[in-house]
Amino acid sequence: MNESIRRACVIGWPIGHSRSPIIHGHWLKKHGIAGEYGKRAVKPDELEEFLLGLSAHGLVGCNVTVPHKEAAFRIITRANPEGVSALARALGAVNTVWLDEWGRVRADNTDVYGFMANFHEGAPDWRAAGKHVVIIGAGGAARAVVAGFSQEGVARVTLANRTLEKAERLAQELAGIGEAALAAAPLSALPALLAEADVLVNTTSLGMSGQPPLNIDLSPLPDHAVVADIVYAPLKTALLEQAELRGLSTVDGLGMLLHQAVPGFAKWFGVRPEVTADLRALVEADIEREQGGA
Ligand SMILES: NC(=O)c1ccc[n+]([C@@H]2O[C@H](COP(=O)([O-])OP(=O)(O)OC[C@H]3O[C@@H](n4cnc5c(N)ncnc54)[C@H](OP(=O)(O)O)[C@@H]3O)[C@@H](O)[C@H]2O)c1
Repeated sequence: MNESIRRACVIGWPIGHSRSPIIHGHWLKKHGIAGEYGKRAVKPDELEEFLLGLSAHGLVGCNVTVPHKEAAFRIITRANPEGVSALARALGAVNTVWLDEWGRVRADNTDVYGFMANFHEGAPDWRAAGKHVVIIGAGGAARAVVAGFSQEGVARVTLANRTLEKAERLAQELAGIGEAALAAAPLSALPALLAEADVLVNTTSLGMSGQPPLNIDLSPLPDHAVVADIVYAPLKTALLEQAELRGLSTVDGLGMLLHQAVPGFAKWFGVRPEVTADLRALVEADIEREQGGA
């Protein structure tokens, strides 16, 4: 193995069709870096050995995806309590792991950064002060979205979820993460919530290809509302289509995936890359290939 080549990868179980190698491969080529980024299927019972033996595996770091984000957080916190960022500690999940200059394992959660960077890119004039954000869903992705808006200083975040108890638990757990007042509601409350929402975000898997549709009527939303979806396959979900027809600003889910990759690349390869139109086109083409069944 050539020791001068820095290697990273994405791990999951199963790893499936991750688009991270396309993103990091594009940046490595663009910046002329002698590096590699692959993907590895790591079983849950091999996760600890893998994360604590990164350098033995020839790696400078990795991304962590489903279902390992919470377990990776616990493993790295035990190994190096100071090595996990405050944000990842608050979320109880990590997606980006690297070795510091002393070879100690460190980790962060860049989903929050990824979501908010993409949101601001899609809605550049949007300001957080006084806003009410309604989030559909209360799973792993919803945690990052609540944290992002709350830390930016919105006034209120309401989580509407099929399982109300999960939304209540999440609102309680993240109550101290930022300035916002957090509340939970059942999905049946959406029509009333939309009438007083400044932002609506879908964080469920509804609307994704192969999943049931997200059936909600956006007509109660105020005209200034921004609608975001974190589903990115299809790129333009039925929710975003409906919002566009209403003349509302929209933010799609692909940019979150692209932006969350930036901090990891900078840690592993020493260059902070940019999310550009050519990168987006490359990943879009891959999604369209998959959607077309090719
Ligand atoms: N754009 C990106 O970079 C990015 C990043 C992360 C995730 N995502 C996407 O976000 C989605 C959610 O991921 P996750 O990790 O948060 O999943 P998760 O933890 O499993 O949460 C799934 C959420 O969807 C809700 N849900 C699922 N099926 C439903 C149905 N039939 N009716 C009503 N609600 C339903 C669940 O409600 P209950 O609590 O009632 O089960 C829960 O709130 C996935 O599509 C994922 O691909 C995108």
